Amino acid sequence: MIPQAFYGAAYPRLCAAERQLVELIGRCPIARDSGEGEAAVLYCKSRIKAPESMMRKLEKNGLPPTGRAALEHMHDAVGVRAVCAFTDDVYRVASWLSGRPEIRVKTVKDYIATPKPNGYRSLHLILEVPIFLSERTQPVRIELQLRTIAMDFWASLEHQLRYKSDVKVPPQISDDLKACADVIAATDEEMQRIAKELHVL
Ligand code: GTP
Ligand code: MG
Repeated sequence: MIPQAFYGAAYPRLCAAERQLVELIGRCPIARDSGEGEAAVLYCKSRIKAPESMMRKLEKNGLPPTGRAALEHMHDAVGVRAVCAFTDDVYRVASWLSGRPEIRVKTVKDYIATPKPNGYRSLHLILEVPIFLSERTQPVRIELQLRTIAMDFWASLEHQLRYKSDVKVPPQISDDLKACADVIAATDEEMQRIAKELHVL
């Protein structure tokens, strides 16, 4: 099914909200002490959740597999992922976004401060972005995942391994993946310490 058919009249709104947030993140004015003015966000990826994937998720949650149910009950029809160099940048971007008058932060899940048991790390924000219709504005929910390039490295590979493997991941392998996450996190911290020592951060 094509997204327009699944999400119906709301689809253009979802696309507008996705564009608006990506564009806003692109304007996040975080300069380094070095004065070079690099962007805090290295790159952004975004997507409207595919109908098939959304329908699976709705059914798993005991909800009807419709666009309406998705918009009412799910917060990730629109998903944006912003990848930063350092952990401090992740929090800076989050706090800058939280201060935007046009954005409402509905929930924050800090899987950096408290990683998931499998080792997953990211800062998740559920945001509401207002989309202007002819005579009123309509808030559109977006799931924003903020992470460092190191966190993204682990999450992207773990996702591939989990979904692409036809066998269920055995406990020993889960432990190995968790150990990889912890090594990557330690390296991430070390790189940030070096950046601070060089007065880059
Ligand atoms: P869903 O997981 O989407 O059902 O919603 P939730 O409310 O439980 O949100 P949660 O914060 O757990 O995760 C939302 C999204 O974060 C997922 O759809 C993934 O994109 C990402 N994510 C969460 N946990 C993991 C993980 O263990 N590994 C990877 N690779 N991604 C994860
Ligand atoms: Mg989940």
